[in-house]
Amino acid sequence: MNLEQPLRRIQTFVRRSSPLTSSQRQGLDLYAGRFRTLPGTRLDSPTLFNNHNPLTVEIGFGMGQSLVAMARAAPERNFLGIEVHEPGLAQIFFDAGERQLDNLKILEGDALDLLSTYAPQNSIDRLQLYFPDPWPKKRHHKRRLVSTENAALIHSKLCVGGVFHMATDWEPYAQWMLDVMSTAAGYRNMAGEGQFHSRPDYRPLTKFEQRGLRDGHGIWDLLFARTPD
Ligand SMILES: C[S@@+](CC[C@H](N)C(=O)[O-])C[C@H]1O[C@@H](n2cnc3c(N)ncnc32)[C@H](O)[C@@H]1O
Repeated sequence: MNLEQPLRRIQTFVRRSSPLTSSQRQGLDLYAGRFRTLPGTRLDSPTLFNNHNPLTVEIGFGMGQSLVAMARAAPERNFLGIEVHEPGLAQIFFDAGERQLDNLKILEGDALDLLSTYAPQNSIDRLQLYFPDPWPKKRHHKRRLVSTENAALIHSKLCVGGVFHMATDWEPYAQWMLDVMSTAAGYRNMAGEGQFHSRPDYRPLTKFEQRGLRDGHGIWDLLFARTPD
């Protein structure tokens, strides 16, 4: 585990505040203690869940409905969601608490800093990044979460055969993801070179995806598996 102070990164998000709904307040009051992972915790299945089930990590789950649905549908896997948006954190505490999930944990903060510091190598079976902010303006491209540097960070945390699964409704970002990931070391495009993947059955539609579909956008999934060293 690398416990050195993380380098100062360009943030991939903007913190937005909005008032909490009553269920979100209940989420914080009733269930945060059960689902929240304390800062400094080692991010692997034995530490978080006391078992060796494969660990799925989702960066930026938004309001969390699709992550809760995936955790319910796959009790044989563990799920760790990382988010900075307080209403989303409070909402997922509520939804996970009401459904009494025991294979989901939540961490608040910048996923890139947290993973780089607290996730051991070879600890993650699947890293999910669904509908990340596309940062469409050229001067903001440096804020995009999919970059050569972050592909290398994620590669170092994935198990061999583990998958980095991205999805977006923004075509230029889909092409950017494909270009970055096709040249990143140590990955194999599971759809074949230069191809996008169909949406796997395990991925429900997300909130942002539904908004994109309503706006007439296409959807692009990319699955890249870590190859043996
Ligand atoms: C466009 S929203 C998509 C939400 C959700 N995945 C969906 O499809 O509905 C992107 C989310 O990623 C979160 N995010 C962006 N960068 C992040 C980071 N470095 N660490 C944690 N969360 C991040 C934002 O707060 C935001 O909620």
